[in-house]
Amino acid sequence: MTTSGYSVLGPEIVKDLHDPRRDFAYEVLVGLSEKPKRLSSKYFYDDAGSRYFQQIMGLEEYYPTRCEEEILRRSAEAIVAPLLDGRPINLVDLGAGDGKKTMILIEELRRVGADFTFVPIDISEGAMKELVGKIRVQMPDVSVEGLVCEYADGVHHLARVAGERRNLVLFLGSNIGNFGRVRANAFLRRLWSSLRAGDYALVGFDLKKDIEVLLAAYNDKSGVTSAFNLNLLERINRELGGDFDVSTFRHFGTYNVFSGAMESYLVSLVPQVVTIAALELSFAFDAWEPIHTEYSYKYLRSDITRLAAGSGFSVQRDFEDERGWFVDSLWRAEHTIAAPTPER
Ligand code: TRP
Repeated sequence: MTTSGYSVLGPEIVKDLHDPRRDFAYEVLVGLSEKPKRLSSKYFYDDAGSRYFQQIMGLEEYYPTRCEEEILRRSAEAIVAPLLDGRPINLVDLGAGDGKKTMILIEELRRVGADFTFVPIDISEGAMKELVGKIRVQMPDVSVEGLVCEYADGVHHLARVAGERRNLVLFLGSNIGNFGRVRANAFLRRLWSSLRAGDYALVGFDLKKDIEVLLAAYNDKSGVTSAFNLNLLERINRELGGDFDVSTFRHFGTYNVFSGAMESYLVSLVPQVVTIAALELSFAFDAWEPIHTEYSYKYLRSDITRLAAGSGFSVQRDFEDERGWFVDSLWRAEHTIAAPTPER
């Protein structure tokens, strides 16, 4: 897949002028022109941001990663069991990051002698190089095909390459939670249309829980989450020639009980004007004016079944951690003819 540059189709037709930096510039333009201002959380994950997020996953307060490691360790055998009928497997990991959790499933697939290819997909090239390098060294017998792209392109690619292989698509962590309800449903439907009946997906859902636990997870004491969030402004400085003074912004994470989402903001502490060279524009901020940066939706168990059915999947089994804070839900792609019921 070409993500930048172009390819020439014959003498007259030029294809694929897609340029990720220009997309970023355009989304920053739109987001900072809106009221209230917002920036998309997908831009958190440049190489620096991916490193910060790896630190977040190691934080005492950030429970989702540890819950999920517990689930995968305890249930790896049951999770891969339905796939072991001799057909070769594509283990696809959407938003693989450092791949630490996925290693648990890879080890299980090796243990049972399954024929599989690991297909990690991530938007961060740095994270992907590290992950693929680590596998080459630690598990030279495992075949890997890493993709550096966005989810949608990765999912589309799957449909073209699967062949006779059966897919197990991992969508772990709070990834699905970063979509709103409607977008989550649409994304899963899109995933479904790239799969064949009988393929599987393992989707992570962070459950609704004690609000203090949620607040602590997104406002850690050591300030890593704050640095992670502020890196978005630094990325605008680095890539688009912005002049954000990050010391004049603060991270703020809050839980909206009504929508069921953790919400993250960057709040301007002073009145100021920020210039972004690549846009040849300035943006004015009032004191205490927020930029919204992320939603992380928390789920009820009943939401999960509805989301699966609404996007063409059936829930095979839910795997929970001991405390009941997190679910990895194993879904099977079904042959549906009916249109999905959109989530509301
Ligand atoms: N996807 C992660 C989550 O929703 C990302 C994340 C963790 C995050 N902490 C954050 C995003 C703080 C913004 C701010 O859990």
